[in-house]
Amino acid sequence: MRNYTLSLLLAAGVASAQTTEIMCEQFKNATTNSGRYTYLTDQWGMDNSGFQCMNVTLNDTAATNSTSFSATWQWAGTSYNATTVHSFPNINLNSDVLPIQLSNLSSLKLDLSWSMTPGEVANATSTTTASSLAAIDVRADVALDLWLDESPTSAQSATYAGTEVMIWQAAYGGVSPIGYTSSISATAPSLKVGGTTYTLYHGSNTNNQSVYSWHPSKNMTSFNADVSPLLSYLWQKEYIEESLYLGLVQWGSEAIHSAGGENVTFWARSVSLDVERGMPATASAAPKVSGSTALGWLSLMSAVLVCALS
Ligand SMILES: *[C@@H]1O[C@H](CO)[C@@H](O)[C@H](O)[C@H]1NC(C)=O
Ligand SMILES: *[C@@H]1O[C@H](CO)[C@@H](O)[C@H](O)[C@H]1NC(C)=O
Ligand SMILES: *[C@@H]1O[C@H](CO)[C@@H](O)[C@H](O)[C@H]1NC(C)=O
Ligand SMILES: *[C@@H]1O[C@H](CO)[C@@H](O)[C@H](O)[C@H]1NC(C)=O
Ligand SMILES: *[C@@H]1O[C@H](CO)[C@@H](O)[C@H](O)[C@H]1NC(C)=O
Ligand SMILES: *[C@@H]1O[C@H](CO)[C@@H](O)[C@H](O)[C@H]1NC(C)=O
Ligand SMILES: *[C@@H]1O[C@H](CO)[C@@H](O)[C@H](O)[C@H]1NC(C)=O
Ligand SMILES: *[C@@H]1O[C@H](CO)[C@@H](O)[C@H](O)[C@H]1NC(C)=O
Ligand SMILES: *[C@@H]1O[C@H](CO)[C@@H](O)[C@H](O)[C@H]1NC(C)=O
Ligand SMILES: *[C@@H]1O[C@H](CO)[C@@H](O)[C@H](O)[C@H]1NC(C)=O
Repeated sequence: MRNYTLSLLLAAGVASAQTTEIMCEQFKNATTNSGRYTYLTDQWGMDNSGFQCMNVTLNDTAATNSTSFSATWQWAGTSYNATTVHSFPNINLNSDVLPIQLSNLSSLKLDLSWSMTPGEVANATSTTTASSLAAIDVRADVALDLWLDESPTSAQSATYAGTEVMIWQAAYGGVSPIGYTSSISATAPSLKVGGTTYTLYHGSNTNNQSVYSWHPSKNMTSFNADVSPLLSYLWQKEYIEESLYLGLVQWGSEAIHSAGGENVTFWARSVSLDVERGMPATASAAPKVSGSTALGWLSLMSAVLVCALS
């Protein structure tokens, strides 16, 4: 709809200038880059039932590593187009630690705060409620999207990476992860990270990539924790290989549907992503499935025994 760039010069006395970019191009992907982060409109499933504008303020500072952006969208497609992802406005972490093998990843810290509200304005009073979103038939989620592959090059491509790991923070309007069925949920493993219990689901996407999704026990509007135990769990329990490279770290909101003419604004009011190299966290406290707890204790006891003997 619109496509322009604004430069805002700050008042004298403030150290650096901020740039605000509004990206509204239809039928193409737009990006902008602050150095530490790249922002993508990522309208990979768009149709002509709506539009998306992304508003990015390039303002991350070394002191906090935090930034903000918002995306206003409406996708009013019907039938098949009412249930497919139209866009994934997101922020990518640019770090020279990436790509990194999982066996060398010691932390993946998220410090996030956001709102999702009807309308095209978001401000300090914006409060996310399931009922206000349901009133305009919003289907959307909020998630971290990680891409992995045995090749460090493919791991940096959302198209060529063989494995996708998603860590969700919220889902509205009946949106659920790939592989989310009642038969799986009865036995799905779960793990508590940052005060939230995450449950694991698995399936393949339309690009035949293997998708592991960690689904939260509640809809959140902020999250501050190291989620690397959720990755360690996957290789320590032998779902994936520890030699896989993590190449892409993206966080944003998958936008699927809103009622005709109704805007939705996802405002990422404060976002900080960080990945560190080192010894991985151990996820061994979590049993793979119910019933294996005793096995966990057994290996802990034998570790103690080895120490005592050496
Ligand atoms: C936008 O990027 C996605 C990958 O993130 C790709 O699948 C899609 O084809 C791209 N769309 C356009 C119009 O370039
Ligand atoms: C779904 O979107 C595609 C791509 O824009 C379009 O060709 C098709 O007509 C749409 N179908 C419906 C039922 O809206
Ligand atoms: C873009 O975001 C900035 C900072 O949050 C805000 O001041 C501005 O009004 C927004 N612009 C539009 C066109 O939404
Ligand atoms: C820019 O960053 C500074 C420091 O983190 C923060 O105080 C300020 O609110 C930010 N401005 C915007 C428009 O996000
Ligand atoms: C910012 O990121 C750098 C590089 O990853 C990291 O060393 C530093 O600890 C981070 N600072 C904060 C405040 O998170
Ligand atoms: C804040 O946003 C709400 C809509 O979410 C709007 O009604 C209100 O006028 C806005 N306040 C300001 C000061 O812009
Ligand atoms: C999140 O909100 C939706 C309402 O759209 C609700 O159906 C869902 O159960 C909530 N998720 C959790 C984990 O409570
Ligand atoms: C999908 O991926 C699996 C595992 O990599 C492979 O065995 C299978 O042949 C692929 N299927 C298609 C249709 O490409
Ligand atoms: C939705 O947002 C667009 C673009 O910002 C605006 O032109 C339109 O008036 C908004 N629609 C409603 C119903 O507020
Ligand atoms: C990376 O992992 C390998 C084993 O997979 C280990 O030998 C090496 O010390 C690790 N490097 C760092 C920096 O942790």
